[in-house]
Amino acid sequence: MLLDEHTFSATTAPSSPGRVRAADKRIINGRTDVNQLVPFKYKWAWEKYLATCSNHWMPQEVNMARDIALWKSPSGLSEDERRIIKRNLGFFVTADSLAANNIVLGTYRHITAPECRQFLLRQAFEEAIHTHAYQYIVESLGLDESEIFNAYHEVPSIRDKDAFLIPFIDAIMDPNFHTGTPEADQKLLKSLIVFACLMEGLFFYVGFTQILALGRQNKMTGAAEQYQYILRDESMHCNFGIDLINQIKMEEPHLWTPAFKAEIRSLFQQAVDLEYRYAEDTMPRGVLGLNASMFKTYLRYIANRRAAQIGLEPLFAGEENPFPWMSEMLDLKKERNFFETRVIEYQSGGSLSWD
Ligand SMILES: [Fe+2]
Ligand SMILES: [Fe+2]
Repeated sequence: MLLDEHTFSATTAPSSPGRVRAADKRIINGRTDVNQLVPFKYKWAWEKYLATCSNHWMPQEVNMARDIALWKSPSGLSEDERRIIKRNLGFFVTADSLAANNIVLGTYRHITAPECRQFLLRQAFEEAIHTHAYQYIVESLGLDESEIFNAYHEVPSIRDKDAFLIPFIDAIMDPNFHTGTPEADQKLLKSLIVFACLMEGLFFYVGFTQILALGRQNKMTGAAEQYQYILRDESMHCNFGIDLINQIKMEEPHLWTPAFKAEIRSLFQQAVDLEYRYAEDTMPRGVLGLNASMFKTYLRYIANRRAAQIGLEPLFAGEENPFPWMSEMLDLKKERNFFETRVIEYQSGGSLSWD
């Protein structure tokens, strides 16, 4: 039997007969065959896919021996430092599973550009690696797994962040949800914005900054190295999500109404408030040269940046970045790894020979 449009329509976008033309591809509500990666239309998505592959890493490559010794030493870390680590893992051990489920069970089926699906497949695996990394840290340090994995139910500052996110994930995971009307397409776009700009682009940043600040003081350097790789992956996910959002805006300009923009701005404000409350809860006092009020500035700075990246006016007046070293962390290559622990270089060492 020849494959025709009917073969694809049950599980994918309805395809049009004839060969795929790049010009006909669309990010959502496309009608071209989603099984044909080429001809490329969205080169930025393919290039980001290639970039993420060249950043491949695995948690077990990072030596945790120094972290374990420090954690077990009674005088190794202050109570405030221990609180930061436990809260941090409490948020992240479930956050990346949420992210993976959102991609696999939510976003993926609504995106009709195969270049973007290719990136999402890679991203889903990276989220699995991140969950693995957090689990690996919990196990290495011998933390109470039940306490850490239940933190998103039991610790209010964590639970509130997840309670904010979950409705946007559930909305697009609902099997009865389909794009194709302005209301549904706006619902998907809103979910993509919440996920890329507010979850990956904002809710991760207090935690990342805290653990990387520990690493800069030569504490928990194994965990800090894992976070450094995760930060690099997440910043790629966030950038991909922003490109995706902007491409949808270009293809479906009728979705970007004044009311929709106002709603997005209000969500940004809520997310900044929630993340600030998390900063206060994790840092009741100054610690590691950080304090909660520095994060008020930082979160406003990041929110302004995310807003600008999707074409919204800044939400807050003239905020500066109080942590310029965080930007350096993003730019580091493996061979110049800040914390100087061992890493396999997949790009140069990964080829197979068959003789
Ligand atoms: Fe992740
Ligand atoms: Fe991510």
